[in-house]
Amino acid sequence: MYGSSKPDQAVLFVPRRDPARELWDGPRSGKDGAAALTGLERVHSTEELGVVLKSIKGGTVWYDNSQPCHPRLHQTHVRPLLEGGQLVKSLRPLTHSLRAIKSPAEVALMKEAGRITAQAFKKTMAMSRGNIDEAVLYAKFDYECRAHGANFLAYPPVVAGGNRANTLHYINNNQIVKDGEMVLLDGGCEYFGYVSDITRTWPVNGKFSAAQRELYEAVLEVQLACLSQCSPGVSLDYIYSTMLTLLARQLKELGILPSHASDTDAMKAARQFCPHHVGHYLGMDVHDTPELSRSQPLQPGMVITIEPGLYISEDNRSCPERFRGLGVRIEDDVVIRDHGGPLILSANTPKTISEVERTCAHAED
Ligand code: GLY
Ligand code: MN
Ligand code: MN
Repeated sequence: MYGSSKPDQAVLFVPRRDPARELWDGPRSGKDGAAALTGLERVHSTEELGVVLKSIKGGTVWYDNSQPCHPRLHQTHVRPLLEGGQLVKSLRPLTHSLRAIKSPAEVALMKEAGRITAQAFKKTMAMSRGNIDEAVLYAKFDYECRAHGANFLAYPPVVAGGNRANTLHYINNNQIVKDGEMVLLDGGCEYFGYVSDITRTWPVNGKFSAAQRELYEAVLEVQLACLSQCSPGVSLDYIYSTMLTLLARQLKELGILPSHASDTDAMKAARQFCPHHVGHYLGMDVHDTPELSRSQPLQPGMVITIEPGLYISEDNRSCPERFRGLGVRIEDDVVIRDHGGPLILSANTPKTISEVERTCAHAED
């Protein structure tokens, strides 16, 4: 957060050594350890922050004033500085545009996150069966991610059986998925600072019913079409408009909308049956670099998700009965490339009906 008359000088602030605290929380590097670890010459303890800040004359302090990351230090040391009229600017827009394009090393970490998550999906599908607790599927998915090298899950996963798939942020994950129902699992892991974010929906007994198959195929067709648009120059907003157009068409083909519905009505219905965007940027955060508009053209090295869905509540009396209570989302993680089409980091996660059914049939205890 420092940038003044000596913009090239980095100053690091770390908590001081404190044997009483370290007894409870574990060892701290302290000033010397931090200097040795980072190679920075100027390292201070956080208690010295106020003195150092006061010594700043003019210049700009690069500091995110709207979202202080350390409330106590903000209150004690930074607020007085701001009240004294110090010029402050947020680094956030700059770091977000740097973070938007991933280097080959970052892509390698995201590939690994995708690989680990894909195998966790396979193992979780393989142990599914009728009348299984969502909590068991959640625990299996978490275990498989961590046991294969993930640091932890990237976010509380959605493990939603039956009609609960229609609650987009369902995270209770504690109900029984009945024989004949599908489960929607939206999960990802973090691998050394980079995350995956994948969704699959499958029948827990391993066989899609006719209605489940119809709805799943409709979403899959749209997802594949959206994936094929993932190339430089196209924006996420553009892919979103494609998704809505194609979902609207599918709703007519499924008989959920009358074939004579106007384009306006069909698009409105598509937005109702899929109330979320087609995707978002992905990287260090699940919803990465939110400063970046989704209307901006994609560039090689950007990573995004593609995640269309159709959600049909059990209470929706205007839909054919066989679809009520079904919710399907299919989500992949995609690197934008100049040549060779998009690189799909989640490609090993079973996706076609036959892949899913085959994976579910490899029963695990
Ligand atoms: N898992 C959150 C999302 O798909 O956006
Ligand atoms: Mn997502
Ligand atoms: Mn997701």
